[in-house]
Amino acid sequence: PRKIIIDTDPGQDDAIAILLALASPEIELLGVTTVAGNVPLARTQENARKAVELSGRPVPVMAGCDRPLRRPLSTAEHVHGKTGLDGADLPEPSIPLDPRHGVDFLIDTLRAHPAGTVTICILGPMTNVATAFLRAPDLVERVREIVLMGGGYFEQGNITPAAEFNIYVDPEAAETVIKCGRPVTIIPLDCTHKALTTRARVDAFRALGTRVGAVVAGWLDFFERFDVQKYGSEGGPLHDPCVIAYLLRPDLFAGRHINVEIETRSELTRGAMVADWWRVSGRAPNATFLKEVDADGYFALLTERLAVL
Ligand code: BDR
Ligand code: CA
Repeated sequence: PRKIIIDTDPGQDDAIAILLALASPEIELLGVTTVAGNVPLARTQENARKAVELSGRPVPVMAGCDRPLRRPLSTAEHVHGKTGLDGADLPEPSIPLDPRHGVDFLIDTLRAHPAGTVTICILGPMTNVATAFLRAPDLVERVREIVLMGGGYFEQGNITPAAEFNIYVDPEAAETVIKCGRPVTIIPLDCTHKALTTRARVDAFRALGTRVGAVVAGWLDFFERFDVQKYGSEGGPLHDPCVIAYLLRPDLFAGRHINVEIETRSELTRGAMVADWWRVSGRAPNATFLKEVDADGYFALLTERLAVL
């Protein structure tokens, strides 16, 4: 199986991504590192433990950075609710928080495995991974690939007119990660805004008749409300599980290998992703920017995989 670390700020969609990874035999989840993002770190680490516990397939969960590299933390309770996981009642998790710091876990795990064998999946602000790279530059070349949810180009922003949340919160971290020099695959809003939680898709989770199915449907019912109001779409975008789905079924996605830059200096466009889709800049490609997803295939994969938990 493909070895991965999930770096995350759950968040209902992050939690579903964790479940998808744990449900999939092609993936070996080495650990979950958490970061401040959708809600503060005390909540994201607890929410990650709840998701792992719900799967019945325990893996270590670590707490990482509690704030961005150089900026105050912005959170998104208006999207995810006060707990970050509103929509389903889950008990206090009994699996403990691993005492290692998330950044130390990233460094030690990448050093402990043969170079080029561990993939990092980033589902939140990229502070933990950037901190690991800045602290231990030797780490970068050990990474197999980074797959991240963040940014947008034709679908520019969701937290400001110019920026997507994960990048906006810590643009310097995103820049460090995207320019690291290892293969980077970006799943931006351009993809996720095509992966909508329509009524039929949410009902399919509920129809699994399992606890996981009911919890996921509850989360999506809560989480989509905000986006449906905002975009007027049928269903909200289901962002983060795309990262895991891409590892399982890259054929469901399409994009281009292009140059991607992050705006860090301007206040108005802070965290904007400048993706050279038309290859007009002359700058060297540094990332694969995915623009399309087969949404039916994506939701079918999710439903089929979550059924085993
Ligand atoms: C991203 O921000 C969070 O709200 C979601 O979990 C996702 O990672 C979408 O902009
Ligand atoms: Ca997230």
